[in-house]
Amino acid sequence: METVVSGIRSTGKLHLGNYYGALSNFVKMQEEYNCFFFIADLHSLTTHPTPGDLRRTVRQVVVEYLAAGIDPEKSTIYVQSDVPQVAELYLYMNMNAYLGELERATAFKDKVRANPDNVNAGLLTYPVLMACDILIHHATKVPVGKDQEQHLEMTRTFGNRFNRLYEVDYFKESFAFSYSDKLVKIPGLDGQGKMGKSNGDASCVYLSDSPEIIRKKVMRAVSDSGPTIENQPKPESIQNLFDLMKVVSSADTYKHFDNLYNTCAIRYGDFKKQLAEDMVLATEPVRSRIEEISADEDYLSKVIKLGAEKAAASADRTIKDVREIIGLKKI
Ligand code: TYM
Repeated sequence: METVVSGIRSTGKLHLGNYYGALSNFVKMQEEYNCFFFIADLHSLTTHPTPGDLRRTVRQVVVEYLAAGIDPEKSTIYVQSDVPQVAELYLYMNMNAYLGELERATAFKDKVRANPDNVNAGLLTYPVLMACDILIHHATKVPVGKDQEQHLEMTRTFGNRFNRLYEVDYFKESFAFSYSDKLVKIPGLDGQGKMGKSNGDASCVYLSDSPEIIRKKVMRAVSDSGPTIENQPKPESIQNLFDLMKVVSSADTYKHFDNLYNTCAIRYGDFKKQLAEDMVLATEPVRSRIEEISADEDYLSKVIKLGAEKAAASADRTIKDVREIIGLKKI
């Protein structure tokens, strides 16, 4: 059976981008594959959360994984830092990741532009740690959103380079995965770019947002004064709302509003109302379980403990092999 690995950083509540780009695929994949889903707490250290915030956000992601339907009996759910073998592999793999290729990574360049005062080494080597998350379990499929595609390419580069350097056929190649034909990029409500916490709370619809909050955010989403010429391409802010509708609404609903747009008969108030109601419906199954799961402290700690044991056992086999391959094993 093929192995699947993916993770989400512990930076707070999960939004529709995380859900449609990653989490919804996790839930489906656990029926077919040997799955490891983790909370990337080490990756979130690049932005220096307070210890209290880190603990709270790790817990939040665990709760939302379970609320979305990841079943700890089928998948291994663990916290990245509970498996220190990953950090050890990261040290080894850093020796054959080169400055030039790390500096060229799009996500790194974006982070440097957005926050020039915090260009730390962890940020630069973020893709190396990510590669280790995947390589440590020999995964071949990695469910992620479009923004992570380049990191998967780098993972293949690092794994292949290791194989070449030590003349082994040890690490497998892994590929970004989505059930839709293309990797997903969910736009935000702010009229530009993808949904993401760094673009502000108003751009994100969180899985835990109440129906009232979802309605408020969608009604305030950036739009324009409406089309005046028939059958013209939509400006970005409107296209984004249609892209969101494509994900949360039925094909008929989408077609209906698309026709109205193309004939200049659309009323954005009605369009947004429909979009908001469909978002409320789409998030309902997850939202309704968050509170109940969050209250069950015993269950949460059991899930995390079991996951850590299973993930560490798998990681330990790899790290022992790697130590031997690179010659660290004692006589
Ligand atoms: P993070 O926390 O930034 O994102 C978690 C997942 O959500 C997806 N995602 C989106 N997908 C579509 N549209 C959006 N607007 C959107 N926003 C976020 C991301 O693509 C990702 O799949 N680096 C990873 C965390 C990670 C990881 C790994 C993933 C660390 N190690 C190993 C896979 C395998 C990340 O992007 O986290």
